Amino acid sequence: MSGKAPCRLGVLVSGSGTNLQAIIDRIESGEINAKIACVISNKADAYALTRAALHGIPAIVHENVSFPERRSYDAATVEILRSHKVDLVILAGFMRILTDVMVNAYPNAIMNIHPALLPSFQGLHAQQQALDYGVRYSGCTVHFVDHGTDTGPIIMQSVVPVEQDDTEETLSARIQKAEHQTFAAAIKLFVEGKIHVDGRRVYLT
Ligand code: GRF
Repeated sequence: MSGKAPCRLGVLVSGSGTNLQAIIDRIESGEINAKIACVISNKADAYALTRAALHGIPAIVHENVSFPERRSYDAATVEILRSHKVDLVILAGFMRILTDVMVNAYPNAIMNIHPALLPSFQGLHAQQQALDYGVRYSGCTVHFVDHGTDTGPIIMQSVVPVEQDDTEETLSARIQKAEHQTFAAAIKLFVEGKIHVDGRRVYLT
């Protein structure tokens, strides 16, 4: 291993945390030279918090109820991330739209995973949108977060087939397997300094 300090990740979650687990596993195996500095959940009952705690990662419940509006919630999130010296923010199933407060604090350093091939099927229920449209292929997209919703520069995408008898559940499960690989691969490139952004274009070296 090089002597370089590992990149510090802050992972934001709301639910089960299978993507978080995939990242934890690859860090623990030495595949990704990073450290998860904290996991932050806006839901107190998110299983992702248990996953973090089981691996000795600070697991922080950060609910939005006590914040008058979205920007003050995001300002508090930024404070938590800064206090943990986070370099890269990972949205791993975080079910809130970020305001400019977060996006400006971490320019091209917030990554999201979306369960469709963007720019198709933005927003919620992307898998059902793909089924309803009748596409033969869907997949997942890892992108940087900008001021829009699911609109930021695309880092990596993976394609999965849509089967004729798919339901939202079966398609989601197939896409999730791809998500775990693709998200980890994008994070690995970032921590190795192999991602360069020029406007909307992302160059991988
Ligand atoms: C993933 O399917 C991701 O595409 C979406 O939220 C889901 C999170 O799943 N943004 P998990 O909590 O990582 O299992």
